[in-house]
Amino acid sequence: LVIMVDVELIAKDAKRAVARGDLIIVIDVLRSGTSILNGLVNGAEAFVPVRSLKEAYELHRQHPRWLLAGERGGNKPKGFDLGNSPLEFAREKIEGKTIVFTTTSGTLALIKSECAKCVVIGTFLNAQAVAQKAEEIAAKEKIDISFVLAGERGKFSLEDFLCSGAILDGFTQESVGFSDKGHAALLAFTQSRKGLLRSVMRAEHAKTLARMGFKADVHFSCQLNTLREVPFYMDRLITLRE
Ligand code: MLT
Repeated sequence: LVIMVDVELIAKDAKRAVARGDLIIVIDVLRSGTSILNGLVNGAEAFVPVRSLKEAYELHRQHPRWLLAGERGGNKPKGFDLGNSPLEFAREKIEGKTIVFTTTSGTLALIKSECAKCVVIGTFLNAQAVAQKAEEIAAKEKIDISFVLAGERGKFSLEDFLCSGAILDGFTQESVGFSDKGHAALLAFTQSRKGLLRSVMRAEHAKTLARMGFKADVHFSCQLNTLREVPFYMDRLITLRE
């Protein structure tokens, strides 16, 4: 049995992965994927990703106990409880809460992937766990695997590419075959794993975040294989339930 793994380098191409019927691993290292994972690990009940601020405010009006989180231009929108810094998603703020979440690029990549049979969120923190879980599900369901890289405003981004390489590194290579983009991502990751933070700091979005005072978020997001939890996106909700 061979599971093929491909990489869609920009979010707009999520539809190709959906059309192939693949399990999709959505990546937005800086910062939405890392924020969602950290929030769920710290006890949030669920994230509800939405495209626009308008939808977020509307959902919050219908469910006043839910929290609003996310960013526009990197900053917390008006009236929101939390921004998009993974460090903000601390247990005392979010335990047991459902969080309406909207960001510029990350939630868009998720929504573009939502018709896939199975959608999981990959980050550096849970890279190996995501590889194992994706491989297990793909083998059981007899489907292939695609990465969808959220990037920054529709453009390719280095940090998401390196993260796909970190996850590819966790696959057992006997039963999994990589496309050329997959091999390229793995080579890039292998080359940078010893100085991961230094490599990620070359990325445009990392530099922007550092300039805005969010360097600690970049540091936090570059921890490799520190968590085993895997977020699943199903029926418009992101939870740790498979
Ligand atoms: C996004 O989803 O657009 C990013 O996470 C942006 C950010 O770093 O706040």
